[in-house]
Parts: sequence; structure tokens; C-alpha cells
Amino acid sequence: MTPFVTWKAFYSVGNAAIDDQHKRILDIINDLHSAIEDGDEMDTLNSLLGRMVDYTNTHFQFEENLMKECGYPHLEEHRQLHNELRRKTAGLRSHAEIVTGSDLLSFLKTWWIDHIQEMDQQYSPYLTASVSS
Ligand SMILES: [Fe+2]
Ligand SMILES: [Fe+2]
Repeated sequence: MTPFVTWKAFYSVGNAAIDDQHKRILDIINDLHSAIEDGDEMDTLNSLLGRMVDYTNTHFQFEENLMKECGYPHLEEHRQLHNELRRKTAGLRSHAEIVTGSDLLSFLKTWWIDHIQEMDQQYSPYLTASVSS
């Protein structure tokens, strides 16, 4: 089966740890997609959403620390966007029974792909400059 979301080389932010974390997030979205397609139990969906919440928090924390370390000037603005998704993802999880699969998936796919391509790309030059100096 074709994956619902696929990693592309141009999503790279030039940092292997972050790229790996982004790939894992896309994997969780694909797992959610398969679970919904297969008509899996609510329990499975809930545990996948739990993984999504946990992994999102871990990733955002990691990314915010790196942005701080490399002196990224728009850290606060970026953190606000993360906070918005932290809240939304936690909300999706606590209302899992009323969110429909396709709403959930299109929301997650759009948010993550846009964020990785637009916002995360913006700190990339600062990160790579600080590593090579
Ligand atoms: Fe990210
Ligand atoms: Fe980010």
C-alpha cells in the first residue's frame, strides 16, 4: 500500500537527529492512517494518538533546545506554533471518539508537512552555521 505521507529529501533541515524525528512523526501518521483504514479498535487509535502526543512533545522540546543553542532569533514565535499544536494534539486525543479519521489525518498531514517545509526550514541555516563553526 502506498504510504499516506512520504518523506522527501528536500524536507531535510540539515540535522540528522531532527530529520530522524520528523521521519518518525510521519511514520506515526502513517500508522494512524493504516489503523483507520483497517477499521481498528478505538483502543489502537487511542494508543497511537498517545504516541503522537508523547513524540510531538519530545520532538518540540528537542528542537526548541537546539534553536536556543544556535541563537535562532525567532525562537519565541516558533515556540508559539509548537504550543498551538501541543494543545491541538492533546485535544484530539481527549476527544478521539468524536474526531473522524479523515479529519484527523488531513489535519496532521497538512500541519506537519507545512511546518517541516516552511517553519523548520527557517532555523536550518542557523543550525548548520553553529555546527560548522
Ligand atoms: Fe520539527
Ligand atoms: Fe518546529
